[in-house]
Amino acid sequence: MNLSISFKAEIVENTAITPDIFKLTLRPLDSFSEPLPGQFFMLSVSESHDPLLKRPFSIFNFKDRELQFLYRIRGRGTRLLSEKKQGQRISLTGPFGKSYPQPDKSTQEVWIVTGGLGIASLNFMINRLTGEGQRLKVLYGARTGPELRILEDIRVKEILIATEDGTEGFTGTVLDLFNSYSMNLQPSSLIYACGPQAVLSFIDQKAQERGIKAYLSLEERMACGFGVCLGCVIKTKEGYKRVCKEGPVFREGEVIW
Ligand SMILES: Cc1cc2nc3c(=O)[nH]c(=O)nc-3n(C[C@H](O)[C@H](O)[C@H](O)COP(=O)(O)OP(=O)(O)OC[C@H]3O[C@@H](n4cnc5c(N)ncnc54)[C@H](O)[C@@H]3O)c2cc1C
Ligand code: FES
Repeated sequence: MNLSISFKAEIVENTAITPDIFKLTLRPLDSFSEPLPGQFFMLSVSESHDPLLKRPFSIFNFKDRELQFLYRIRGRGTRLLSEKKQGQRISLTGPFGKSYPQPDKSTQEVWIVTGGLGIASLNFMINRLTGEGQRLKVLYGARTGPELRILEDIRVKEILIATEDGTEGFTGTVLDLFNSYSMNLQPSSLIYACGPQAVLSFIDQKAQERGIKAYLSLEERMACGFGVCLGCVIKTKEGYKRVCKEGPVFREGEVIW
């Protein structure tokens, strides 16, 4: 079969979960490579050449050959995407980037640490690990209770929640939550994290201090998504790396923050 990196898909649903967070389900119309958890696609947000550049989105879920994304309206591109209707077609390229590595045999418990839209990158991995019977704890932070609606599709037994305004769960950020539970982390634990740089650098530092393995998924502005424009380079201990190609998932101790 000839698998294409660039293909078209039909919109099955594009629904608002909160006023600015949408769930988009696509049914690919051409052959494509099946994605792995942590990878992303570049989606065209307009039929015309304005805006010209496709936008990167993590794979929230991949099931029954349908691709699902979760996105927040940030600027013009995501606003245009939110206006697309069921039955319309969309072009996309991918999957791109390195996936989250699987836990090895010594891993006794996995911690997923994230907040806001970071769950978009991790949900596919959560589903895979849950299906494999892996012990899993999710630590999730939101600004306020109503934003927790984005967790309605997350199928996990143990989820600890923090809200910054204290409307639900622990009062504080996901880092406050992490700090108050981190004494339970063991050297045999493994952390997967996605979120803003401040969250990732903090988790990175704690993981290194405690000798715990961690996989951190970074976000950078991207123009091409497949390694040619060098728009997404970051500094690492092994020199500059492209988030779209060598990432977006990096090991603890790898990135220079
Ligand atoms: C690998 C990867 C996966 C992503 N996955 C998701 C996802 O699953 N769901 C989701 O909602 N978003 C995700 N994003 C972010 C998403 O791509 C941007 O929000 C989107 O491109 C914004 O497009 P726009 O035209 O609406 O905004 P623009 O008009 O381009 O920008 C609006 C504002 O957002 C800021 N911004 C735009 N892109 C980024 C970025 N990558 N990092 C930091 N700030 C940015 C700009 O600086 C500006 O302030 C991902 C980004 C990357 C790199
Ligand atoms: S986005 Fe072009 S090199 Fe990464």
